[in-house]
Amino acid sequence: MEMPHNRVFSGVQPTGNLHLGNYLGAIKRFVELQQTHECIYCVVDLHAITVWQDPRELLHNTREVAAAYISCGIDPVEHIIFNQSQVAEHAELAWLFNCVARIGWLNRMTQFKEKAGKHRENASVGLFAYPALMAADILIYRATHVPVGDDQKQHLELCRDIAQKFNVDFAEAIAVRGHKDGFFPLTEPLIAGPATRVMSLRDGARKMSKSEASDMSRINLTDDADTIARKVRKAKTDPEALPSEKEGLEGRPEAENLVGIFAALDDLSVEDVLQKYGGSQFQVFKSDLSDLAVSKLGPIGEEMQRLLADPQGIDDILRNGAERARAIAAPIYDEIRKIVGFAH
Ligand code: TYM
Repeated sequence: MEMPHNRVFSGVQPTGNLHLGNYLGAIKRFVELQQTHECIYCVVDLHAITVWQDPRELLHNTREVAAAYISCGIDPVEHIIFNQSQVAEHAELAWLFNCVARIGWLNRMTQFKEKAGKHRENASVGLFAYPALMAADILIYRATHVPVGDDQKQHLELCRDIAQKFNVDFAEAIAVRGHKDGFFPLTEPLIAGPATRVMSLRDGARKMSKSEASDMSRINLTDDADTIARKVRKAKTDPEALPSEKEGLEGRPEAENLVGIFAALDDLSVEDVLQKYGGSQFQVFKSDLSDLAVSKLGPIGEEMQRLLADPQGIDDILRNGAERARAIAAPIYDEIRKIVGFAH
């Protein structure tokens, strides 16, 4: 069994309100990696249910993420798109990783602390164990690279810690079975570009998020042109003109955020954008940003609506993707069973 050397895995939760942060921080990068890597992109429904989901909405949101993947340019024939719960090996390996990861490691996860908030005792056990499932998602394919936004960095460090501990704990069994450099790879996070952390349009100190109450805080992939334009026009800014150098954005989180969004949407660097708009007022910049956002996101939203009109068609794609994902995961899980000492 060969260790893959360029296999990409990533996932998005079907929890509604897919937004510009998900697009620029993750999905747009997923698309680019198809040129160079073997890619597996998952709709992580098992992760979604760590907080309550209405079953009908979960089903719709799952199809919506799949539709977004395809509309943004992921090819479900050359690569793989599927939903997590159809490949049982994710959950099986997650159990094993629950027994490898330490409570102390999970206690340090800032996202759990944020999501559980003051009601920690009332959070689901799944929400606490979530990063072990995420490690299982990645390592059940022995994926080498994972493109994500900045907020997932700590979870990917934990994934490496779990892989490392497994490789050490089972070193003898792994070597006996002929694996030379450990069984799991130490997966590399891919977090780069001008939009790894897109902030709320209403508050430059908060991340753009699916769960933020105000819809004005984010641009959704399903927003129409008028809505996108209104949200950009109303986005919070400061009274100064735009600077011509990157240093001039320091201490100006809203300006920095909008410039980063512009750069990422137009495949430019922040420096390029400032060279063009340095000295301009926000009114001018926002008008161009709004046109740019509509021209890039409009066609994606329309294609999503078209695909969602045929839910059966999306389900067929997910089922086919799941079969192909399982064909990769099953032999890896068989090998894991032998390493761990499960009778087979
Ligand atoms: P999720 O569903 O919260 O977000 C999906 C992807 O979008 C990125 N993202 C952002 N990027 C930039 N700016 C933002 N404001 C922003 N908000 C979200 C996230 O970083 C992510 O890449 N735990 C993951 C899903 C997951 C996963 C995995 C990812 C499950 N298993 C295995 C990679 C590998 C999550 O909740 O993403």
